[in-house]
Amino acid sequence: HPRSTNTIVVFGASGDLAKKKTFPALFGLFKNNFLPKNTHILGYARTEMDKEKFEDRITQYIKLSGDEDKSKLREFLTRCKYINGPYDKDDGYKKLLENIEWMESDGGNHKNRIFYIALPPSVFVPVAQGIKRICWEGEGERRIIVEKPFGKDLESSRDLQRELSALFVEDEIYRIDHYLGKEMVKNIVVLRFSNVFFGAVWNRDYVSNVQITFKEKFGTEGRGGYFDEFGIIRDVMQNHLTQLLSLVAMERPVSLSTEDVRDEKVKVLKSVVPISEDDVLLGQYTASADGKNPGYLDDDTVPKGSKTPTFAAMALQVKNERWEGVPFILKCGKALNDAKAEVRIQFKDVPGNIMPHKIARNELIIRVQPNEAVYVKLTNKMPGLTVDTTTTELDLSYDRRWADVKIPDAYENLILDCIKGDHSNFVRDDELDAAWKIFTPILHQIDEGKIKPNSYEYGSRGPKGLDEFVQRYHWNRKGDDSKL
Ligand code: BG6
Repeated sequence: HPRSTNTIVVFGASGDLAKKKTFPALFGLFKNNFLPKNTHILGYARTEMDKEKFEDRITQYIKLSGDEDKSKLREFLTRCKYINGPYDKDDGYKKLLENIEWMESDGGNHKNRIFYIALPPSVFVPVAQGIKRICWEGEGERRIIVEKPFGKDLESSRDLQRELSALFVEDEIYRIDHYLGKEMVKNIVVLRFSNVFFGAVWNRDYVSNVQITFKEKFGTEGRGGYFDEFGIIRDVMQNHLTQLLSLVAMERPVSLSTEDVRDEKVKVLKSVVPISEDDVLLGQYTASADGKNPGYLDDDTVPKGSKTPTFAAMALQVKNERWEGVPFILKCGKALNDAKAEVRIQFKDVPGNIMPHKIARNELIIRVQPNEAVYVKLTNKMPGLTVDTTTTELDLSYDRRWADVKIPDAYENLILDCIKGDHSNFVRDDELDAAWKIFTPILHQIDEGKIKPNSYEYGSRGPKGLDEFVQRYHWNRKGDDSKL
């Protein structure tokens, strides 16, 4: 809109997420001229902070690559302001409204407001109510961005949804799953539906199993209090990995329009069978062998004797025409030997093999991070005066193919989408509901202590039994290596 102002209010502006993700993303957008003209940013939280302290905080994670960046940052900071106030009293929201209106006074009549809630669940609803009561009225677009946790199971998620939908219509709500803002995650739809050869083999006739993996090298240091209440399944699997699953498994949407894509995601999630106890392997990390890294239970913020899993592997069944019988193995864990997120599609053995030995299976790997890549493992003749075959890769590594392209951060993508009013990469209410349905029964069993985690050492590959677990779901590490 030519004569509009845009105000982005960040609740929880003194917190971790705001410092690590929200403000760096806003700056990234500003720097590359993606924030509309007349955009102002207001940070709000309870903590008292002067301008200097606020600016120090929000710039801590911003990387500057030269003088131009420095001057851009100074300019960006003139658009930012911090105010503190309570979350549960009207006074705070009135003060906020005064500030918003003051910022809007230099623009036209179209006054857009985005409220970004980066807050713990305990204050989530009162803040949403305060916003609606005092800061919502008036001309212009109104949008609210919310971050997980969206409840702890199906019931609590529905309770939260009920409270939100009493205040806002679905179209005004932007539920973040930041994996949907990642470059390679956005690429899944393109890969699948724009390449005939992938489309042709993307089904139970050719695919043996699909593994979706998330690994982190660090533990829950400093976040133990939050983490223990949720555990790795709610923290990563029910949301991020399930999003990947739905994108890999869904049918071709009628079009790329937001609701067409989200309809297909919901549909496939509804075909996933709730997980049974036999299809689960849990882990919790202990101190590293050298004693340098503490175990999960050594963290003071973690309750003594906690059985919360920091690692989980589960095999999901998608019971539909395309996928019946193909296990989707979801694995995630903290304090492991590696840091990565990837989708690995393993194809079936070559039928009617004419090689004198078993050959390795083809695989398609979509590496979300680090170093985005798409690669296919295939069998090739070893070049030269030999008849050997070898397993090698067709490799599309982004840092080589597009060395000069800067890949935007997930949050830059998502905040920009919200400014544009595009919901494609946000989670719809029924999608959230369908995801919770898959995990709620097993989560309740775990919460009741019926499934116990196996221990694994900080920095190791995971709990004992992991290799057997994935093999049980058809995963085949390699073909027979013997050469011709
Ligand atoms: C968050 C989880 O949603 O995702 C964290 O709460 C996790 O525990 C993080 O570390 C991983 O995100 P990324 O973008 O670093 O893979």
